[in-house]
Amino acid sequence: MIRTVASWCEIDGRMNNLELHDFQPRLGSFRDEILKGLAQAQKAIAPKFFYDKRGSELFEQICELEEYYPTRTEIHLLKTYSQEIADLIGQHGLLIEYGSGSSSKVRILLDAFHQPSGYMPIDISFEHMLQASTELAENYPNLDVIAVCADYTQDFQLPEYNKKLVNKKLIFFPGSTIGNLDPTEALHLLKQSISLLKTGDGMLIGVDLKKNPTILNAAYNDSRGVTAAFNLNLLERINNELDANFALDSFRHWAFYNQDQSRIEMHLVSLKEQTVIIEQTPFYFSEGETIHTENSYKYSIEEFQKLAKRAGFDSTHVWIDPNNLFSIHYLQVR
Ligand SMILES: C[S@@+](CC[C@H](N)C(=O)[O-])C[C@H]1O[C@@H](n2cnc3c(N)ncnc32)[C@H](O)[C@@H]1O
Repeated sequence: MIRTVASWCEIDGRMNNLELHDFQPRLGSFRDEILKGLAQAQKAIAPKFFYDKRGSELFEQICELEEYYPTRTEIHLLKTYSQEIADLIGQHGLLIEYGSGSSSKVRILLDAFHQPSGYMPIDISFEHMLQASTELAENYPNLDVIAVCADYTQDFQLPEYNKKLVNKKLIFFPGSTIGNLDPTEALHLLKQSISLLKTGDGMLIGVDLKKNPTILNAAYNDSRGVTAAFNLNLLERINNELDANFALDSFRHWAFYNQDQSRIEMHLVSLKEQTVIIEQTPFYFSEGETIHTENSYKYSIEEFQKLAKRAGFDSTHVWIDPNNLFSIHYLQVR
């Protein structure tokens, strides 16, 4: 249920092309999921909890890193094929973006699209999304920006949009963020997405490809330690938002490619035997014990197309860079 709906006019009276729908995904679930995740035999926290304000800022820094090839490769692909993508959608499209973050990649599409009607960014990170949506609404005054703060892994309804004519809808899901879900969860999300679309609408998804593990391991273990800071910030967030006493210097970042599972795993490793208290509940860590904080699944083109087909999409286009690092799939609802 939407708890807050505000048009930007109510916030500062300047713009009338931005509105905010806040499902308040950060309340309640954070505490419950942290306590539940740390009570498991393999302690685990879902990666969606990385993204408080600081986490979102650190992620932006990761995107700039030399070792982190996905962002620049995907941007290059989008720039190269944006016209082709725009032609698939035609005039008066509605662009919906999952995990919109800074909303920077979508600008490449918006610049190529033919008179897009609206843009609906959906993100769990409230402040970051609000800032990005405000800037975008200012820069694109003829575009309706309907910002939605929600967790796309939970059931939620898209806000009604009928201010302008909409021909086709396109759900844009860049950054290989779909790789943070395991294949069963990814299939569920694809099926859920179809329920938001109609026959002929599309989904554009950035998917990281299987490749030499040396390249993958470097991408998640950068020399400047930004990914380590991003991972450790999760403990800082727990300390800030819950009554907790994690000592950040008693944990270290660990990321590696798990070939059997075709995924990068990120963990936080306890450097010593210790007990951490969260809201009066003690959590014991042996030396070397880990909290599993992220998976990033890698797919071959065929594996991802098969998944999309099982969900009910036709896989009509796929664009790949010359070094076979990254793919962008265009899927059409059957
Ligand atoms: C890996 S970043 C990608 C950001 C951007 N789309 C890009 O391609 O660079 C993941 C983004 O998805 C958001 N996010 C992660 N899990 C989410 C969830 N379950 N629901 C909504 N947003 C989520 C994060 O806040 C973050 O902005």
